[in-house]
Amino acid sequence: MRSTTEFPQFKREQRKIVMVTAYDCPGARYAEAAGADTILVGDSLGMVVLGYESTVPVTVDDMVHHAKAVRRGAPATCIVLDMPFGSYHAGLESATRCAVDMLQRSGADALKLEGAGEVIGVIRRLTQVGIPVVAHLGLTPQSAAVLGGYKVQGRDGDAAEQMLRDALACQAAGACALVLECVPQQLAAHITRQLDIPTIGIGAGPGTDGQVLVFHDLLGYGSHRVPKFVQQFAQVGPQVQQGLADYARAVRSGAFPAEAHSFNLGGAVLERLYG
Ligand code: KIV
Ligand code: NA
Repeated sequence: MRSTTEFPQFKREQRKIVMVTAYDCPGARYAEAAGADTILVGDSLGMVVLGYESTVPVTVDDMVHHAKAVRRGAPATCIVLDMPFGSYHAGLESATRCAVDMLQRSGADALKLEGAGEVIGVIRRLTQVGIPVVAHLGLTPQSAAVLGGYKVQGRDGDAAEQMLRDALACQAAGACALVLECVPQQLAAHITRQLDIPTIGIGAGPGTDGQVLVFHDLLGYGSHRVPKFVQQFAQVGPQVQQGLADYARAVRSGAFPAEAHSFNLGGAVLERLYG
């Protein structure tokens, strides 16, 4: 899909929304060629690409820099861009200014924000401005420090009811879709049935309107801690490791470069150089 305006049709026709993250041009090209419906430039960038321990250090400029590369690699796919930690919590005005700046500089189609509470007002404001917003509930990694780590959310009755209320509030504020992360499958399915907007799950079972996974996790590329909810559809890492080791060995032994990888001077020039 090219735009978030196609989300309702997916939900109506019960077509699953396929979302995958990407952070650079080749990743985006692969995702678009594979027919992903939408690409998320997630702030998981911080962990899977930039090597941080959490998403907290990721900046607006980091997100925009990588989103521009993704846009170039996937010109025909709807791109959702995460607003990073702290960029939408210092009041409506600064959140709005930051969102407009991120959208204009990146070429993304929509922004994703974590949480409810005060964030509901931001979702409403950005939607009024004309920015499609994807909400994100359940495990919200930007607040892992206060949630007590990366764990399943909404397990007890009060938390489950609160998540449903938050989901309805996100929808009422204008969110065009809702990501549910690390939520018991029955709760995710229940929320999905209560909402008119599509839900996109990660660690939320099969009952959501779509699924999202992190590129590096699903392809087994450089991801050391893979969560329980991930299925690895390929193991690219060992092939990358092997290829690099083979290259190092070939350079050291002189097996590379071979004749096929080398350029030749013409006979006349050879004559002149060497007599
Ligand atoms: O940053 C990210 O990749 C995400 C998904 C895991 C939903 O927010
Ligand atoms: Na994220």
